[in-house]
Amino acid sequence: MPETDLLKGKRIILGITGSIAAYKAAEITRELIKREAQVYVVMTKAATHFISPLTLQTLSGNPVITELFYERGPQETHIDLASRNDLLLIAPATANIIGKISTGIADDILTTLVLATTSPILMAPAMNEKMYYNSIFKENMEKLARYGVEFIEPEYGELSCGKKGMGRLASISKIIEAVKTALKRRKDLSGKRILVTAGPTQEPIDEVRYIANRSSAKMGFALARAAYEMGGKVILISGPTLLKPPLGVEFIQIRTALEMYEAVKERFKEVDIGIFAAAVADFHPSKAHRGKIKKEEKGLVVELTPNPDILKEIGKDKGSKILVGFAAEVEDLIANASLKLKEKNLDMIVANRISEEGAGFEVDTNIVTIISKEEAIEKLPQLSKDEVARLILKKVVDMVEAAGFEPVTSSVRRMRSPN
Ligand code: C5P
Repeated sequence: MPETDLLKGKRIILGITGSIAAYKAAEITRELIKREAQVYVVMTKAATHFISPLTLQTLSGNPVITELFYERGPQETHIDLASRNDLLLIAPATANIIGKISTGIADDILTTLVLATTSPILMAPAMNEKMYYNSIFKENMEKLARYGVEFIEPEYGELSCGKKGMGRLASISKIIEAVKTALKRRKDLSGKRILVTAGPTQEPIDEVRYIANRSSAKMGFALARAAYEMGGKVILISGPTLLKPPLGVEFIQIRTALEMYEAVKERFKEVDIGIFAAAVADFHPSKAHRGKIKKEEKGLVVELTPNPDILKEIGKDKGSKILVGFAAEVEDLIANASLKLKEKNLDMIVANRISEEGAGFEVDTNIVTIISKEEAIEKLPQLSKDEVARLILKKVVDMVEAAGFEPVTSSVRRMRSPN
């Protein structure tokens, strides 16, 4: 899609906060307007010390809101704005606004809008290097990222203190690119329902001990988050993990493989797409003892019973739904993954060599090879799990478009609501 079409008519709230980089918001507004977006500027009090609301009103062609309490004219209220916008961009975003939003404070117009909006939120931080690397700030940013806020990384360069360092507002072109990507992504999975499995399973030996594996659930959570950001309705079924479920995703916590199987059987019928990233235990102890097994000199033999292969069972009767599996391998990556793709009746498999540094369990990055049903093989470089998730989902979108099928959601909705 040409970029003018992508931004044309899109309603973008541009939040400006009190950084010296606030003057650059004028340029951002101009660039968005040039691409025919509708820009509604909202400023914090501090931002008005750096750039005049009149400048932004003139450039955007819309009234600029600076107060939470204002005389209502014929123009839209801030709640109207928040419910109809396609994107909320905060540029520049100070450490202060990021801190306030991360704790849910809504004490001015911009923080209130953030809580009220359902659109994707993009933030372009700008601050002094010391502040950017501050642990409290970092934690706030990570918390917001978990809730689906996207950050446009600042750049290294001259800062307002005169020194060079990290923290300069990203370039205008980078910000516009991020806006385009966010707007495009939002649409890709809208109307689709996606089920994602994640994490390890725990198979109890007794009431204290269990058999599990090293899965952190990071890949599955990244997929669920990305699918939601792309407009999908997401059901995330996960084994035990320390991660917090992404905002906007329906979360089902299970413990054992059998519980995961039950949950998947129950919910798979509602979805268009299934992505199975869980590291499901292949066996469970045949007998889970009550209480705690006592220490024995002669040791302990635990008999194991195979678990169902959830993905294989689901694959048998998947119909036109799209099914994506994962294959964690130590050797013969492509051959083993291709075999699983066929055996489990998948549309795509994501293979990774778990012995490779920067891939597989626990780490934040992954190195994967994506194999399609048509045997197209694509090896990706080392990327963050979020980036890997977005690329996998992009391929899923291509498959959905190629299949041209009607999402099951519409038929489910028709059945439930005769109106
Ligand atoms: O056969 P293998 O365990 O390597 O297959 C991995 C793929 O199958 C993953 O997508 C995983 O989530 C899924 N799987 C499953 N149930 C099992 C074992 C694996 O859904 N019991």
